[in-house]
Order: sequence, then structure tokens, then C-alpha cells
Amino acid sequence: MRAVLLTMAALAALGLTGAVAVVALGLYNVSAVAGHLPGVSWVLHTTFRNSVWLRAPSEEEVPELDDAELIALGAGHYATACVPCHGAPGQEASATMQAMVPEPPQIEEAVAHWEANELFWIVENGIKMTGMPGWPAEGRDDEVWAVVAYLVSVQGEVAPELELQTGGSEPEEYCASCHGEVGGQVPRLDLLSAEYLEAQLQAYRSGKRPSGIMAQAVTSVPEERLSELATHFAETADEAGDAPVASAELVVKGEALAREGTRDVPTCLACHGEREDGRRKGPVLDGQRRGFLEVQLTLWRDGVYAYDPLMHAAARDLSNEDIEALAAYFARR
Ligand code: HEC
Ligand code: HEC
Ligand code: HEC
Repeated sequence: MRAVLLTMAALAALGLTGAVAVVALGLYNVSAVAGHLPGVSWVLHTTFRNSVWLRAPSEEEVPELDDAELIALGAGHYATACVPCHGAPGQEASATMQAMVPEPPQIEEAVAHWEANELFWIVENGIKMTGMPGWPAEGRDDEVWAVVAYLVSVQGEVAPELELQTGGSEPEEYCASCHGEVGGQVPRLDLLSAEYLEAQLQAYRSGKRPSGIMAQAVTSVPEERLSELATHFAETADEAGDAPVASAELVVKGEALAREGTRDVPTCLACHGEREDGRRKGPVLDGQRRGFLEVQLTLWRDGVYAYDPLMHAAARDLSNEDIEALAAYFARR
């Protein structure tokens, strides 16, 4: 018995010494050119598959993904954030990206073997030790679903054309591939002041206002251009579409809430309406898009957005029905 224990202890010590040697002496070859040892790729890939299966949200949690504006928003993000590694449909990634280990699969191949709920998990979380990044902002399921909507449109071979940015593209053109083009969840900027827009761009940059889509956008253009871009978009008409006009009943309900509030909800117009001196505390909401307002109010209510404590408090007790009615009221035409 004693001999068995001693042998086991000796083997354990040997194993540990081996492991220390591999780490300390650099015996493991980290070269990407050498690739993985036979069998290791299989083990890693099988672990990856099973890990996603275990953790993906259930199929019931998948929202409607065939909305054209949602797909267009996802496509706009994909064009700068994902194309460098996965390429555009029908087009390969660069030779350098193809030399990654593991190699990022070409987009059609990347989406081929997954359901929408699994794609959601992958895009939100990324894949450790592969170079596949997670979503750069927390709590933004709504944005991840937009990208998934695009990926599903690629699966169905109904994806819209991507607006790829080239070295010669101007930042204005890049921003305008969503603002003025997409509608839905993408806000109108022409209602707002340049100062407000610039403050938001800085808030996206610092992460104070968490949005993976806008964080990608503001880090894709030189920081010193942001002020100029804010001025440009404050002055450029945006006539892209939005959700259909709401029923008059919903608008009336929203108006009452916005003007009078309730015991739990303060009157929105106290801050968002114009005061006698022509100023207001919060940004203009009149004429803003329904799709955008619904998403934003949900984020404020749920505390994903908390960068303005008064606004967070104002939204805290809103029900989904209140949010729908308020968005319908402010977006009325
Ligand atoms: C820096 C390169 C890189 C970027 C940027 C990147 N990916 Fe990936 N992605 C990878 C790599 C590498 C894998 C392969 C992981 C594996 O197979 O082990 C991967 C895997 C995937 C997969 C799973 C495919 C499969 O079966 O392996 C999907 C889906 C995916 N990426 C979507 C996206 C989307 C959407 C974006 C943009 C939001 C994105 N990726 C950005 C490198 C990247
Ligand atoms: C892929 C689409 C896309 C691109 C490209 C894009 N945006 Fe946005 N933008 C959005 C979405 C979606 C939001 C709402 C984000 C949120 O939830 O806060 C937004 C929000 C904003 C806001 C805040 C508006 C408000 O009412 O609070 C500003 C300002 C803005 N974008 C300016 C820009 C500028 C400038 C660029 C170019 C550098 C740009 N955007 C590029 C989609 C985009
Ligand atoms: C106490 C003042 C106050 C009240 C009350 C208030 N808000 Fe706000 N709201 C703000 C401020 C300030 C901001 C801008 C925060 C920032 O950018 O720093 C804001 C931002 C917003 C935004 C984001 C707009 C955009 O373009 O990014 C929406 C949507 C909004 N409020 C809707 C509402 C609604 C609906 C109500 C009523 C339920 C309401 N607010 C009540 C002060 C208020």
C-alpha cells in the first residue's frame, strides 16, 4: 500500500515538474504556423459546440428577425466590425486573416451550422482563445439581435448588399450608411443640437453610454472629427422610415402620460418640452422614431442606461405598455 502511494506521489511530482518546464522553459510551441497538435483542434471545436448548446438562450426568446430595418442595422454594423475577419457574402477575408489559427470561417460557412439563438450567444460572448471577440457593450441584447437578424438573412440568402468602407470613404458617408438610410432603431439626428450630439459621441467613446454599435462607429473615425460630424448631422435632414403610424388611441394614452405623468412617473415634458426661455433640460423627442424611443426607454427603465440619474428615475416605473404609448406619442406625425 505504501509503495503504491509513493509511486503515485512520484508520478504526480513528475507531471507537475513537466508542466512547470513547459511553461517556464517555453517548450510549448505557440506558433500559429505550426497549428494545433493532431486531435487538439477536434477537442477544442467539440468543446466550443457543446458549450454554445448548453448556454444559448431558448428558442422562445428569439424575437422577430425578419424586419428589414433591423436587418439593415445589423448589416451596417457587420460591414465594419466583422468583415475584416469573416468577409462579405461572396467575398473572402484577406490572406492574413485566413492565416489565423483557428481560421475565421467565411460568413456563409460561419452561419451555416447554427440556429438564431446559438448565433446570438456566439456574437454576444465571443469564443475564448480564437480571436472571435464578444460584444463590446453590456446589456445590449437589442443590438446583438440586430446582427443576428443580418446573419439569419445571410442563411436565407436574402441579405441586403453591404456598404463596405474603403480607404477613401469620408466619415460622413460612413455615418450616413445608417443615419438617414436605415430608420427603425436608428435615431434622427437632425432634431437635436450639435452640442447634444457631440456629448453623446463622447459618451459612446468612453463607454458611459453603452452601445456596441455606436462604440464601433466612433472608434472607426478619427476623434478630432467628432465635433465636425456632430455639426454636420445636426444640420442634415434624415428621412429614412420608421414603424407604421400608431393608432390614435395609443397616441392619446401616450400624450396624457407625457403631459401629466402618474403617481410613479414624472411628466416627461417638464424636461423634454420647451420652457418659456426656449431652453429645455433634456433632448427633443418630438418627431423622433418610434423604434428608437422604445429601445431607449427600455434601456433607461432596466438600468442598462444610468448615465443621467434623473432620466433613469423618470423611466424606472414604466410598463411595456407605457413605453409603447410614449413612443407612439412622441413619434406622431
Ligand atoms: C478578429 C477576427 C474576428 C472578428 C472581428 C470577428 N470574428 Fe467571428 N470568429 C472568428 C474566429 C477565429 C472564429 C472561429 C472560431 C472557431 O471556429 O473555433 C469565429 C467564429 C464565428 C462564428 C461561429 C462560426 C463557427 O462555426 O465557427 C460566428 C457566427 C461569428 N464568428 C460571427 C461574427 C460576427 C457577427 C462578428 C462581428 C460582430 C465577428 N464574428 C467578428 C474571428 C473573428
Ligand atoms: C451601423 C449603424 C450606425 C452607424 C454606422 C452609425 N450610427 Fe450613430 N447610431 C446608431 C444607432 C443604432 C444609435 C442608437 C444607439 C443607442 O442605443 O444609444 C445611434 C446613435 C447615435 C447618436 C446619439 C443620438 C441620440 O439621439 O442620442 C449620435 C450622435 C450618432 N449616432 C452619430 C453617429 C455618427 C457621427 C456616426 C459616424 C461616426 C454614426 N452615428 C454611425 C447607428 C449607427
Ligand atoms: C428630470 C428631467 C427628465 C424627465 C422628467 C424625463 N427626462 Fe428623459 N432625459 C432627460 C435628460 C437630461 C436626458 C439626456 C441625458 C444625457 O444625454 O445626458 C434624457 C434623455 C431621454 C431620452 C434619450 C433621447 C436621445 O435622443 O438619446 C429619451 C428617449 C427620454 N429621455 C425620454 C423620456 C420620457 C418618455 C420621459 C417621461 C416618462 C422622460 N424622458 C422624463 C431628462 C428627463
